[in-house]
Amino acid sequence: MHAISITDGVYRLSAHIEGILFEGMWPLPHGMTMNSYIVKGKDIAIIDGVCGWDGVPETLFRQFEELSLSVQDIRYVVLNHMEPDHTGWLTPLKKVVRGFELVATPKAMRLAKSFFGLDNSFCELHPVKSGDQIDLGNGKILRFEEIPNVHWPETMATFEENTHTLFSCDAFGSFGKVSDEEYSDDVLAEDQLQFFKEEATRYYANIVAAFFLAVQKAIEKLKPLDIRIVAPGHGIVWKKNPQKIIDLYSRLAQWSIYPTEPEITIIWAGKERSMGSFIQIATEAVKQAGCRVHVHKVPNTHISYILPSVLRSRGVILGIPYSAEPIPSPMVHVLDDLGRKRILGRSFFWFLGAESIEPQDRIQLEVSIEGEINRMFEKYQMRWIEMDPQRLGTVGTNQWTSNANVDLNEYIYQNARHLAQQVTLRERRPLEALHA
Ligand SMILES: [Fe+2]
Ligand SMILES: [Fe+2]
Repeated sequence: MHAISITDGVYRLSAHIEGILFEGMWPLPHGMTMNSYIVKGKDIAIIDGVCGWDGVPETLFRQFEELSLSVQDIRYVVLNHMEPDHTGWLTPLKKVVRGFELVATPKAMRLAKSFFGLDNSFCELHPVKSGDQIDLGNGKILRFEEIPNVHWPETMATFEENTHTLFSCDAFGSFGKVSDEEYSDDVLAEDQLQFFKEEATRYYANIVAAFFLAVQKAIEKLKPLDIRIVAPGHGIVWKKNPQKIIDLYSRLAQWSIYPTEPEITIIWAGKERSMGSFIQIATEAVKQAGCRVHVHKVPNTHISYILPSVLRSRGVILGIPYSAEPIPSPMVHVLDDLGRKRILGRSFFWFLGAESIEPQDRIQLEVSIEGEINRMFEKYQMRWIEMDPQRLGTVGTNQWTSNANVDLNEYIYQNARHLAQQVTLRERRPLEALHA
C-alpha cells in the first residue's frame, strides 16, 4: 500500500484488512480497504484515518514518508465519522504528535474525548457545522456538511472546493480490497466495476441499510455541490463517473421501501432430504415464470449475504420445516435482522414443509407460524404483504383456512409461480399502491 496522488494536492493513503470479521460480525471474503486522505494546501489536513489494529497505523505513517511528509506536519485532523475503523489510528498518533487542530462536529468532539481523551489539553478543538469552511491556503478550501446517521449521529462529509472532491467516509463505500494500481473507476474494467458495485451493495445492506432515510437526506443535501470526485472511506475512488456510486446508493436507499428488482429470494431451513425437494419445486416455479431467484439455506448462509439479496428482491418465499418451535431460530434471526435493517414491503408467502402430519396438527402449527410472522412484522412495522391466493383470511379471524387438505407440492408450485408472476408483471411503484 502506497500513497497515491488522486488529483492536484490530494493524496490517498490506505490500509487493507482481511481474514477477520468486519465489526466482529461481517465476513470479508474479498477483504476490505480503508482510505485516508491528505489535502495539501499551505497547511496540511488529513481527512479520516484507519483502524488501530496491529501494524495498520504504522502502514499509514509509512505512507506519509512516501509523500516526504511527517505526521508532525499535520495541522488539521478532520474526523468525518468516529467509528474505530476510521479513528483507531488516533491512539498511536497521540503518542507522537500534539497541538494539531481537531475538526469535527460537536457530537464527534464528545466522542473524541471519551474514546481517545482528545480534549483542549491535548489539541485545539475546531468544531464545525454545515457550511463552515477552512482555508488551507494555495487555493485549497475544505467545506463541511453534516450528514447525520450515515452511519452514526455525528457523521459529516468534507468537500474540497478547488478539486471538487467529496470525502464521504462510510457513505458511498464498499467492501472489497482495492489495489494501488487499480484504485479508481477510470482504470477499472467493467467486470471489476461490477465487483465493486456488488461489494458496495453488500456493504450498504450490512452496515448502512437501517439508516436509509438518512442516506436519502444526505444525498439531497450534497446535491448542490459540484462533485467531480467521490473519495470514500472504503472502496474505490470514483473519478470518471462519481454520479454512478451516488446513484447506486440512491437506488439502494430506495430499495428499502420500493424494491425495484423483479427477483425472488427463497430462505429456508431444515433437512436437505425433507425440505430440499420443496425448495426445488419453488425454485423451478419461479424460474419458469421468468424471474431471477436467489436461494439461501439458513444457518448455512451467513445473514450478510441474505440481506442484500432480500434488499434487491420484490418477492420472498419462506420455507419453514416441521419443528418443535413454530419457526426455527435461524429463520427467526434472519427475519428479525431484515426488520432491524428496515427492509420493508416485500411480497411473500411461506409454507410449512411437512407432509405426514395430521390435518389438525398442521392447522395448529400453521396458526402459530402465522402468529409469529405477524408479531415479527408488526414489531418492525415491516409492511410485508402475504400473497397466498389459496389461504383465506388471516389469523385472528374466523376465516382462517389451513392448507391441511391441499397437495403440498402443488400448493408450493402454484404459489411460487403466482408470486413470481406478480413481481415480474408489476412496475416499480410505491408499496402502498403496489399492494392496493
Ligand atoms: Fe461506520
Ligand atoms: Fe467505516
